[in-house]
Amino acid sequence: MKGISGRVAIVTGGAGGIGAGLVRAFTAAGAKVVSADILEEQGAALAKEVGANCAFKKTDLRIDADIEALVAFAAEKFGEIDFLVNAACTYADKGGEADRAGWMTGFDINLFGGIVLMQKALPYLSKSSWPCIVNFSSEAAHVGLPSRWVYPATKAAIEQVTRSQAMDLAVHGIRVNAVMPGWTAKPWQLTAPKETQEQYAYWGNRLHMLGRVGKMEEVTDAVLFLCSEHAGFMTGSCLRVDGGHSAMGPQGRDVVLPTTLRKGTAAAQPK
Ligand SMILES: NC(=O)c1ccc[n+]([C@@H]2O[C@H](COP(=O)([O-])OP(=O)(O)OC[C@H]3O[C@@H](n4cnc5c(N)ncnc54)[C@H](O)[C@@H]3O)[C@@H](O)[C@H]2O)c1
Repeated sequence: MKGISGRVAIVTGGAGGIGAGLVRAFTAAGAKVVSADILEEQGAALAKEVGANCAFKKTDLRIDADIEALVAFAAEKFGEIDFLVNAACTYADKGGEADRAGWMTGFDINLFGGIVLMQKALPYLSKSSWPCIVNFSSEAAHVGLPSRWVYPATKAAIEQVTRSQAMDLAVHGIRVNAVMPGWTAKPWQLTAPKETQEQYAYWGNRLHMLGRVGKMEEVTDAVLFLCSEHAGFMTGSCLRVDGGHSAMGPQGRDVVLPTTLRKGTAAAQPK
């Protein structure tokens, strides 16, 4: 994709899940990546495997000093910062039982960390020739889910903050978008016990128009696209990469209206 090679990305949550996929995808496309995560062993191992164009910096997104050190590290290591990709998250969510501390932690990691990162990196992004931020939303941001209150609220807030950031950073030429994945298969799910995999495939089929969960590269490709020069006129948007999940009604792909009634309705239409 045009505009990725040679540029420098910070990827939060880069030690695991989709973040690790992003580390691989950006470096494969010729970018340099600083992966930031609390999981030091996993993050460092991946950076070593990927090679010289990737460095790992242990970062707790709840701690401003860590974020400041991350930005200084990236600028020192690779000389510039062009892309921020905020993939880190916590799924911890006690729903209606979540106490104030639970809410604070959810928002601290999922939302505030990315905002502070943007603030600390702004001097570098402002100097970049092609600056871009990608935030991570979720289909959970748009619906009520049983026993999940905190995570969906953080994701809804991310979509709104994406619009606010896009508005105020446009003056610096910085584009800000969000990506909204559907269920995305992560490596551990592909090697999970048979029963778990069957459950996952069943619900993947039920909940997505395309009848399956997403592949990691389908999400990472979308993030690279948003950072690339192909998306030069995109800002303030949320790109849905969800196999049609969020466009489906509550009946899913089931035909619920009785056939006779549908026939009757059709017959009643004016010719
Ligand atoms: N996997 C999906 O199906 C799916 C669907 C919709 C949206 N998303 C979004 O995609 C993004 C990645 O999801 P995932 O499933 O790969 O998540 P994951 O749980 O596999 O990985 C999240 C990473 O964030 C890191 N992290 C957690 N707390 C941190 C902190 N305080 N500081 C720094 N790093 C921290 C974790 O260590 C982990 O490596 C998330 O923002 C998630 O909301 C995922």
